[in-house]
Amino acid sequence: MSHVRQIINLAKGHPNPSLLPVNHVRAASVTAFSDPEIFTAQSSLLYAPDDGYRPLKENVKAWLSRFYSDSPQIGADRICITGGASQNLACVLQVFSDPTYTRNVWMVAPTYFHASRIFEDNGFYKRLRAVAEDEQGLDVEYLERGLRASDEQAARQASPTSISPSKPPRPYSKIYRHLIYAVPTFSNPSSMTMSRLRREQLVRVARSYDALVITDDVYDQLLWSTDPDASHTGIERAILPRVVDIDRDLEGGPGRKGADGFGNSVSNGSFSKIVGPGCRTGWAEGTPRFAWGLSQCGSSKSGGAPSQLVAAFMAHMLQSGTLQDHISQVLQPAYARRYKILVSAVEKHLIPLGVTLPQNPRQIMGGYFAWLKLPEPLHAPEIAVAAQQDEDLLIAPGSASAVWGDEAAVDLSRNIRLCFSWEDENNLTEGIARLARVIVKRQIANDQE
Ligand SMILES: Cc1ncc(COP(=O)(O)O)c(C=O)c1O
Repeated sequence: MSHVRQIINLAKGHPNPSLLPVNHVRAASVTAFSDPEIFTAQSSLLYAPDDGYRPLKENVKAWLSRFYSDSPQIGADRICITGGASQNLACVLQVFSDPTYTRNVWMVAPTYFHASRIFEDNGFYKRLRAVAEDEQGLDVEYLERGLRASDEQAARQASPTSISPSKPPRPYSKIYRHLIYAVPTFSNPSSMTMSRLRREQLVRVARSYDALVITDDVYDQLLWSTDPDASHTGIERAILPRVVDIDRDLEGGPGRKGADGFGNSVSNGSFSKIVGPGCRTGWAEGTPRFAWGLSQCGSSKSGGAPSQLVAAFMAHMLQSGTLQDHISQVLQPAYARRYKILVSAVEKHLIPLGVTLPQNPRQIMGGYFAWLKLPEPLHAPEIAVAAQQDEDLLIAPGSASAVWGDEAAVDLSRNIRLCFSWEDENNLTEGIARLARVIVKRQIANDQE
């Protein structure tokens, strides 16, 4: 009888089903449907207010104020409930960009691989620009040079009167000249975290060039200590303020003289990574003027914020504390364990082969991913194909995270993204051992050529 080997999937960036808080969601749904006071006054089966289910806004505000405690209390008027980070990226573009005026989208490279498509869907085909990241985060000097060159080129090419906007002026919105996209904390795919200094530089540059920085802050709560002796008690504070916090506080914030009150950043938060992606619910944070403008997006005006029903469940989970407990008592220890298993296996099986982990382990790590670099002359897409064919192992080559249309700007041909959130914990070490066999085989073949 032939032995069928189990596929090991280190490519998929989803949570393992065992980590979904099914019982807490069920309890929250029962509360939402059974408390007549809530149900009649704030029925989540009705249309929602434009900016979302009010109790959720209040609870998100209280929870984020505590988590990002570096900064003062967050006002509920800074928050707009969304259909999650991806859906909201599209809404941000619909309200705050116009492809006839907004010049480019400057994207961290490697980037979250679905973001390029969302930008292209909104009119930015051929206008995505890759900005590399180093160990401090996005290369802000390169970004600034690019922004300057783009503005100079636009000034040479057209007079402002020749530009015909594709969207009407609206009192609740503004159209930014540039867009910048990044995942500053525990990035997908590189797991990099941008330093505080870089975040400040980024805000200053965005202000100078009328740019909106859109950050997906979806992994911030999934963090743990890499210290082997650290206890697995939860970490309840963020490691760094978000870009949106810095924009609020730095040098007078959006209220400073001459500013228009919209600010230069929006934070995209999501329940996908901390409850489950099926929730399709999240929140955005920006200045009160920005958050309100976002809520006026046509698709939200028509029926109110998305995910009204699930928003009610999320509100109850935050209210009762079950979500906070799930993060600190289940997710953080589970991902810490998974990360440590994977990295130990990488150190044992792959580092001796010349593979490196460009993101050197810091005291605090987080997110879903480890990012590898293969030694010369290996080519990650070939290794990924061989891994699937020869070893039933799925991995994502770095090139899958290239910025569309600007692939050549940053060389990702030797990078691999490994995800430790999906696969069964017991298979992580075996997955790395299989990858090692693929690499050894290819290295031997190369030596013989
Ligand atoms: C950086 C980043 N942004 C957005 C998303 C998707 O978020 P949502 O499910 O809220 O649309 C993901 C999920 O993988 C992600 O890694």
